[in-house]
Amino acid sequence: MYLFFIFISLSNNFTLSLQQQNPSNEVMALLGFKQKSVAADPQGFLNDWRLESLTPCSWRGVSCSLHGKVNMLNFTGAGLTGCLHMDDLMVLDSLKHLHLSGNLFSGNFFLNKASHPSCIIETLDLSFNNLSEPISETFFGSCFHLVSLNLSHNLIPGDIHAVVVSDFFKSLKSLDLSHNNLFADFPMLEFKNCANLVALNLSNNSLYGTGIPRSLINCQLLETLDVSFNKLEGKIAAFLGNLRNLKHLNLGQNTFSGNIPQEMGSMCGTLIELDLSGNELSGGFPETFKSCNGLQRLNLGSNQLSGNFLTTVISYLPSLQILQVPFNNISGFIPVSLINHTKLQVLDLSSNGFDGNIPSGLCSNSSLRRLLLADNFLSGTIPADIGNCKRMEKINFARNHLSGQIPSEVWKLSNVHDFVMWGNNLSGEIPKDICSGTQTLEKLALNNNGFTGNIPASIINCANLSWLSLSFNQLTGTIPAGLHNLQN
Ligand SMILES: *[C@@H]1O[C@H](CO)[C@@H](O)[C@H](O)[C@H]1NC(C)=O
Ligand SMILES: *[C@@H]1O[C@H](CO)[C@@H](O)[C@H](O)[C@H]1NC(C)=O
Ligand SMILES: *[C@@H]1O[C@H](CO)[C@@H](O)[C@H](O)[C@H]1NC(C)=O
Ligand SMILES: *[C@@H]1O[C@H](CO)[C@@H](O)[C@H](O)[C@H]1NC(C)=O
Ligand SMILES: *[C@@H]1O[C@H](CO)[C@@H](O)[C@H](O)[C@H]1NC(C)=O
Ligand SMILES: *[C@@H]1O[C@H](CO)[C@@H](O)[C@H](O)[C@H]1NC(C)=O
Ligand SMILES: *[C@@H]1O[C@H](CO)[C@@H](O)[C@H](O)[C@H]1NC(C)=O
Ligand SMILES: *[C@@H]1O[C@H](CO)[C@@H](O)[C@H](O)[C@H]1NC(C)=O
Ligand SMILES: *[C@@H]1O[C@H](CO)[C@@H](O)[C@H](O)[C@H]1NC(C)=O
Ligand SMILES: *[C@@H]1O[C@H](CO)[C@@H](O)[C@H](O)[C@H]1NC(C)=O
Repeated sequence: MYLFFIFISLSNNFTLSLQQQNPSNEVMALLGFKQKSVAADPQGFLNDWRLESLTPCSWRGVSCSLHGKVNMLNFTGAGLTGCLHMDDLMVLDSLKHLHLSGNLFSGNFFLNKASHPSCIIETLDLSFNNLSEPISETFFGSCFHLVSLNLSHNLIPGDIHAVVVSDFFKSLKSLDLSHNNLFADFPMLEFKNCANLVALNLSNNSLYGTGIPRSLINCQLLETLDVSFNKLEGKIAAFLGNLRNLKHLNLGQNTFSGNIPQEMGSMCGTLIELDLSGNELSGGFPETFKSCNGLQRLNLGSNQLSGNFLTTVISYLPSLQILQVPFNNISGFIPVSLINHTKLQVLDLSSNGFDGNIPSGLCSNSSLRRLLLADNFLSGTIPADIGNCKRMEKINFARNHLSGQIPSEVWKLSNVHDFVMWGNNLSGEIPKDICSGTQTLEKLALNNNGFTGNIPASIINCANLSWLSLSFNQLTGTIPAGLHNLQN
C-alpha cells in the first residue's frame, strides 16, 4: 500500500514536470488570445484563466488530449465580445475543435498560409456571433483539415464563389452559412471540391439566379441541401434526382416555377424530408415519388399545385408524419386513403378547393396532432371519430360549409390548444362543462355560425385562453362573471 502511494506521487510529479515545459506555452498562448481577442467577458466565463496555472487543461472552456495538450476550446454561449485573432491559437498544435457559438466575436479569419503551414483545425463553430466581414479566398489559410464549418446566424456579406472553389472546401463535410447576407449567382457556383460534402446549408441569404448549379452533381455524398429563403427562380433541375444520398432537401421560399420534375423521384431511396413550399410551382406531385418509402415530412404549401396527387401518390407514402399542402389549387374530395397514414401527425390541407365531407376514419388509428382544413368548401357534419385523435392539439375547420352540431367526443379532446371553427354553419350549444377538465385551450373561435344557448359559466376555467371569438351566433343570456380574470 505504502509503496503504491509512493509510486502514485512519483508518477504525478513526473507528469507535472513533463507538463511544465511544453504546456506552459499553451498557457501563454491562451492568455495571449484572451488578451487580444476578448474585449469583454460580462459573464466572467474566463475568470479561472490564470498565469499561475501549470496547465490550461482545467480552465473553463478548455479540453485537453490524454497527452495534456489543448485539443478543444468550447466557449458556447459564453457571451464574449471582441475581434478574433486566430493567429494566437495556431501555437496550440493539437487544437482541433473550436466551439465559439453564441458570442459576439467579429473578425475575418485571414490566416497567412506561410506562417501557419500546419493548421489542423477540424471543427469551427462560430454560429450566432457578430461576424460582418466577407469571407475571403484566403479564409483559413492552410486549414486543409476543416471538416465542419458553421458560420450561421452572423452578418457575413459578399460573394461565396471564392469559398466554394477554395482548397479548404475539399475536406469539408458540413458547411452551414445560413442566415447571413451572402449573395451569389447560385447556378454559376462551381462545386468541384465537394466530394466529401455531406451537409450544405445556405438558407436565408441573398442567393439569386435562374436554376440550380449543375456542378452540385459532384457532391455525391450530399445528404442535406437547404437553399430555402433566397431569391432563386426558374425551374427545379431534373438532375437533382442524381443526388442519390439526399435525405433532406429544402428549396422552399424562393420563386421556383414550372413543374416538379419527375426525375426527382429517384431520390426516393433516401429522402426523409422534402420542402418545396413558398414557390410558384404548378402541375401535380409526380407519380415517381410513390416509391418514397422513408419520406416523413413533405411540405408543398403555397404553390399552385393541382390534381389528385393526394390519392395517386401521397397515399402510397407509409412513413409520412407531416403533410403540408396549404395554399394550393387542389380540388375534389379529401381522399379516404389518408386514413392509412397511421403515423401522420400534421395534416394541413387549408386554403385549397376541397369539397365534399370530412372523411370519417381519419382518426381510426392515428397520431394526428394538427388537423387543418380551413378555407375549403367542405360540407356535411364533423365526424364523431375525430374524438379518437387523443393527441389532437390544433383543429382548424374555419371558413367551410360545415353544419350540424360539433360531436361531444370532439369537444372532449383534452389536449386541444386551438379549436377554430368560425365561418361555418355549425349549430348546437357550447358544452356546459367546457374547461372543467383540462385547461389547455388557448383559442376558441366559433364566430359566424349558428350556435345557440348560453355562454357556459365554466368558460372562466379556461385559464390559458388568449383568443375567444363568439360573435355572430344566436347566443343568449349573460356574459359569465369572471371572464375578465382570464389574464391572457
Ligand atoms: C460545449 O459547451 C456547451 C455548453 O456548456 C455544451 O452544451 C456542449 O455540449 C459543448 N460542446 C462540446 C462539443 O463539448
Ligand atoms: C459587432 O460588429 C460591429 C462591426 O464590426 C461593431 O461595430 C459592433 O460593435 C459589434 N458589436 C458588439 C456587441 O461587439
Ligand atoms: C450551426 O449552428 C447552429 C446554431 O448553433 C445549429 O442550430 C446548426 O445545427 C449548426 N449547423 C450544423 C450543420 O451543425
Ligand atoms: C438551415 O439553416 C436554417 C437557419 O439556420 C435552419 O432553420 C434550418 O433548419 C437548416 N436546415 C437544415 C436542413 O438543417
Ligand atoms: C432571415 O434573416 C433575416 C435577417 O438576416 C431575418 O430578419 C429573418 O427573420 C430571417 N428569416 C428566417 C425565415 O429565418
Ligand atoms: C387551378 O386548377 C384548375 C384545374 O383544377 C386549373 O384549371 C386552373 O388553371 C388552376 N389555377 C391556377 C391559378 O393554377
Ligand atoms: C389501406 O391500405 C390497405 C392495405 O394496403 C388497402 O387494402 C386499403 O384499401 C387502404 N385503404 C384505403 C382507404 O385506401
Ligand atoms: C394501428 O397502427 C399501428 C401502426 O402505427 C399498427 O401496428 C396497428 O395494427 C394499427 N391498428 C389498426 C386497428 O389498424
Ligand atoms: C345551415 O344549417 C341549417 C341546419 O342546421 C340548414 O337548415 C341551413 O340550410 C344551413 N344553411 C346553409 C347556408 O347551409
Ligand atoms: C398554459 O400555457 C403555458 C404557456 O404557453 C403552458 O406552459 C402551460 O402548460 C399551459 N397550461 C395548460 C394547462 O395547458
